[in-house]
Amino acid sequence: MTDTAKLQTPTKDVEYPVMSGTVGPQVVDIRKLYAQTGMFTYDPGFTSTASCESTLTYIDGDEGVLLHRGYPIGQLAEQSSFMETAYLLLNGELPDQGELDKFVYTISRHTMLHEQLATFYRGFRRDAHPMAIMCGVVGALSAFYHDSTDITDPKHRLIASHRLIAKMPTIAAMAYKYSVGQPFMYPKNELSYTGNFLQMTFGVPAEEYVVNPVVEKALDRIFILHADHEQNASTSTVRLAGSSGANPFACIAAGIACLWGPAHGGANEAALNMLREIGRPDRIPEYIARAKNKDDPFRLMGFGHRVYKNYDPRATVMQKTVREVFEALNVDDPVFEVALQLEEMALNDDYFIEKKLFPNVDFYSGVILSAIGFPTTMFTALFALARTVGWVAQWNEMIADPDQKIGRPRQLYTGPTQRDYVPLNQR
Ligand code: CMC
Repeated sequence: MTDTAKLQTPTKDVEYPVMSGTVGPQVVDIRKLYAQTGMFTYDPGFTSTASCESTLTYIDGDEGVLLHRGYPIGQLAEQSSFMETAYLLLNGELPDQGELDKFVYTISRHTMLHEQLATFYRGFRRDAHPMAIMCGVVGALSAFYHDSTDITDPKHRLIASHRLIAKMPTIAAMAYKYSVGQPFMYPKNELSYTGNFLQMTFGVPAEEYVVNPVVEKALDRIFILHADHEQNASTSTVRLAGSSGANPFACIAAGIACLWGPAHGGANEAALNMLREIGRPDRIPEYIARAKNKDDPFRLMGFGHRVYKNYDPRATVMQKTVREVFEALNVDDPVFEVALQLEEMALNDDYFIEKKLFPNVDFYSGVILSAIGFPTTMFTALFALARTVGWVAQWNEMIADPDQKIGRPRQLYTGPTQRDYVPLNQR
């Protein structure tokens, strides 16, 4: 027997089916609510609303669990590669060796950008934020790749998906090169996805760039940790943009715009800036007090999460990776000590315990990226690069969903009721 949920409204009592997923909370199917009662539900920030059905990613925020297609993020981060995780997210299963080789080959054949795009970059100011460039260039891809914008054609969707994943490292690296005034570096297909990105970012034409395997592995792991995170703000933005039938390049550009905000992807940049501002462990209590003060807008960046009310499993892997990178590169940055002590102090503070605020993925990622040599402005661009895999997989899932409709939320209107226009000379 199917479970139902009963709702008493002022005009009538109604009953709705309760749907169950494979794991996680059940959902009440209220699709007929408006037709039957003339009422909407009210849920700003979608804290209790499931916007779609999905088979990609599962999060149990209370237990600190994150699964991609059923596989725990810790196992993927330790044992998989970003390309393998990308294949998994896109196709539902881990690839065998032949499937992986073919996928890697395909992606590596789409890494170059249309040469005319180099001119497009030159239209930006040198000090433009890389995320501003990413939004513009990714949106512009739809003007360059007309042969993959028909979303009703599965072949177009596949090529667009491969192009987006393959070109994102080139686009991000070029944004960096432009800001430092160095020549753009072309991709090298013999390198790994991540090694190639490092080469395009830190290499120069004057000499051969040698990829450091520890850095390559650490960055690949960071990409895995950011690959997807179910219906977060930017992913929901991609889905909403895509629900109107917009082409995938435009949809991913919309996702990049949403990710930029400091409450979302921009938090990694903000977290490192905050740690640097704190500077010394003895200044931590002052910042903890500010975070707790209701009259001060300051928040501990890299702390707290809408879904995780436990340690973010991605932060655990990040913390371990900091040590590996510091050792390999012989880095001694006081910011790591500040981060460790800040974490410890916050986790023992009643305010953070009561509100269940734990370090999230962004708390340590900036420390690693900075040690590798990325400027803070590139951090969110790297997040966008990795999250493109999730956005693309979610977008494909949505387009293939027979229940898919244009996204169109309703509202609780509290503005003026109808009134007559008053001519300017009578106001
Ligand atoms: N420092 C101090 N207080 C906090 C923090 C924080 N980082 N985060 C939440 N709180 C407090 C908040 O003031 C509120 O208190 P009260 O109930 O007394 O009003 C309570 O905790 C609940 O916070 P909320 O803002 O209602 O929770 P939310 O689910 O809407 O926000 C969040 C989640 C991630 C936006 C928020 O925790 C935050 O702003 N964190 C800092 C930014 C950050 O690190 N973002 C990265 C998120 S992970 C990467 C990603 O997915 O993009």
